[in-house]
Amino acid sequence: MVLAHISEVAAHAEQVVSVRGWLAGRRSSGKLLFLQVRDGTGTMQCTAFRPSLPPEVFEQAKHLPQESSLVVTGKVNPDDRAPGGYELQIEEIAFVSSAEEYPITPKEHGTAFLLDRRHLWLRSSRQHAIMRTRASVVRACRSYFDDRNFTLIDAPIFTPAACEGTTTLFGVDYFGDRVFLTQSGQLYMEAGAMAFGKVYCLGPTFRAEKSKTRRHLTEFWMIEPEVAYLDLAGDMDLAEDFVVSVVARVLEERREELELLGRDIGALESVQKPFPRITYGEAVETLRSMGHEHEWGDDFGAEDETVLASRYDRPVMVHRYPGAAKAFYMKNDPEDPKLALCVDVLAPEGYGEIIGGGQREDDLDVLRAKIEEHGLPTDPFEWYLDLRRYGSVPHAGFGMGIERMVAWLCGIHHVRETIPFPRMLERTTP
Ligand code: 4AD
Ligand code: MG
Repeated sequence: MVLAHISEVAAHAEQVVSVRGWLAGRRSSGKLLFLQVRDGTGTMQCTAFRPSLPPEVFEQAKHLPQESSLVVTGKVNPDDRAPGGYELQIEEIAFVSSAEEYPITPKEHGTAFLLDRRHLWLRSSRQHAIMRTRASVVRACRSYFDDRNFTLIDAPIFTPAACEGTTTLFGVDYFGDRVFLTQSGQLYMEAGAMAFGKVYCLGPTFRAEKSKTRRHLTEFWMIEPEVAYLDLAGDMDLAEDFVVSVVARVLEERREELELLGRDIGALESVQKPFPRITYGEAVETLRSMGHEHEWGDDFGAEDETVLASRYDRPVMVHRYPGAAKAFYMKNDPEDPKLALCVDVLAPEGYGEIIGGGQREDDLDVLRAKIEEHGLPTDPFEWYLDLRRYGSVPHAGFGMGIERMVAWLCGIHHVRETIPFPRMLERTTP
């Protein structure tokens, strides 16, 4: 028996192969039975002609419930009308497991219904397209840094200290001690950068986000590069080059999937250098000129980001936010110490912030004072302060949320569909 994956049947044209999969759909007309078989790599139409199968096999196939598993053997016939260009002319069917009545039908289902059945929903062609795109995004992100001599340094998940403020921390009982699920690998990447120069991590991060928005998960994946001797301008160059490269790679690998999702490919093709760069101050002016009141000093909300980014056909980089609105580790702008040397990259088409980063405070005393100003306990940060005690250098980095990137690239409204098993305020199952 020659086994074949549906994505590779072209190599077996006119040969007899066996395809192992699940029944995605079926219909019959007279002596003909059409089975849509899905094997994970694709879906193929398999045609049975009544006289060529034992009667009981034909009957069983004719009534086989959706998602039953089966192995079909037959000849691979080129057929212009078949999706994929080939159909299988069935000679034999082995039934593996007959499915119970499948809850997900072609009719419209609500999102809550589908999310409750996420383990099954993942079998649909739309979810396949999203997950394959996600896999390509992750591969493109990793290759970008691997190919440029960054060293992968995995950050821990259990951490003693807050990186992104204390309001979104998940506490964990750790043998009687209280530790936290990591909000960001950044502080560890800073240690990595002092040891290896250019490093990155990619892993799950956690935030106790109490609000329900289309951009927030409580568990999401982030890729975080960190580079020694890099300043804010260099960090923006890196972020820009990285985003352009990832978008290009995904367009190359996943055009078919993006088309299935109905994505406007042209909008992604315009993601080229240079990205516009505006200061926080200019962004506030812009918002006001567009009739959106904004208090100088406040961080931007989702709505502000959407409005700002809608002015451009590619991501916009907003830099130098007021330090008071940002995390403790950011370096003040020597030209105007009210401002932080930070950058947010905002995606167009309403997707908002996909990257946050900047230059880090590298002076021991200033950093210690900032930790105290933010009301953080200094003890858990002593190791971090060591990085400023032993050969401190200017350094910078950023974090990009994988799900935000996938949502934008796929043109999906809510990030919940961009991760296999989303975790949100009111969802920790399945
Ligand atoms: O802007 P954030 O909070 O930055 C940091 O965590 C830095 N320590 C990163 C660094 O400099 N190494 O988060 C970075 C990115 C955001 O731009 C967004 O893409 C994503 O992480 N993100 C989330 N994605 C989904 N759900 C959430 N709750 C997210 N919070 C942040
Ligand atoms: Mg941010």
